[in-house]
Amino acid sequence: MAEGFFISFEGTEGTGKSTQADLLGKELRLRGRGVVLTREPGGTRLGGELRKILLGMTYEDLSVMSELFLYMADRAQHMAEVIIPSLQEGKIVICDRFTDATVAYQGFGRGMSRERIEALNREATSGRFPDLTVLLDLQDVTAGLCRALKRNEEKGLEGAEDRFEKEEAAFHCRVRDGYRSVAEAEPGRFAVFSAALPVDELHRRILGRVLQVLPPGEGNAEGA
Ligand code: TMP
Repeated sequence: MAEGFFISFEGTEGTGKSTQADLLGKELRLRGRGVVLTREPGGTRLGGELRKILLGMTYEDLSVMSELFLYMADRAQHMAEVIIPSLQEGKIVICDRFTDATVAYQGFGRGMSRERIEALNREATSGRFPDLTVLLDLQDVTAGLCRALKRNEEKGLEGAEDRFEKEEAAFHCRVRDGYRSVAEAEPGRFAVFSAALPVDELHRRILGRVLQVLPPGEGNAEGA
């Protein structure tokens, strides 16, 4: 069985990446492909617990170093339990946030050393990075934050914004710069799209790019 294909979605808050990851997963399934849709933090049972700690305000005093290591613990478990086994079964793994989020948020956002984060990322993933990373870029980070807060309100989670949604706009601008910097450094892995596009149009463009690079799979008559 050929190794599967690994796609990650990245972007600042409220860029619609979870919606786009879902739409892509549904479309690929319709085309007969085996898809595993997952996310970080929180793609495993352990990860679910870590997500509560990382994004909730119960441990408000979490140090930046502890935060970094908890993201790495989440990732190591996720690789071992979900990502590597799924790729070995020939599946397409679509992950909502992955290693680049740590470079952008903990590196550019929090100011931790990019080299250290990259070294830890290599260890936590055993060097298995995404084959394609879709970056949804939104110049107006404040508009994205408003979208994220509105989404919380609609879900009845008013006032429940997480640790990062509480950060000031300057933090989110640094995160955006971080994402753009990693994307520029690895143009072969990244596909960058404007998050300001309508949902359907964005989906169409992302799908087009994925079908260009996705190896043909069993049960897919179009060879996509
Ligand atoms: P999400 O539900 O929008 O994906 O939120 C996850 C949050 O976790 C988001 O604010 C970014 C943050 N995050 C990091 O800071 N570092 C990481 O390595 C990952 C995976 C997520």
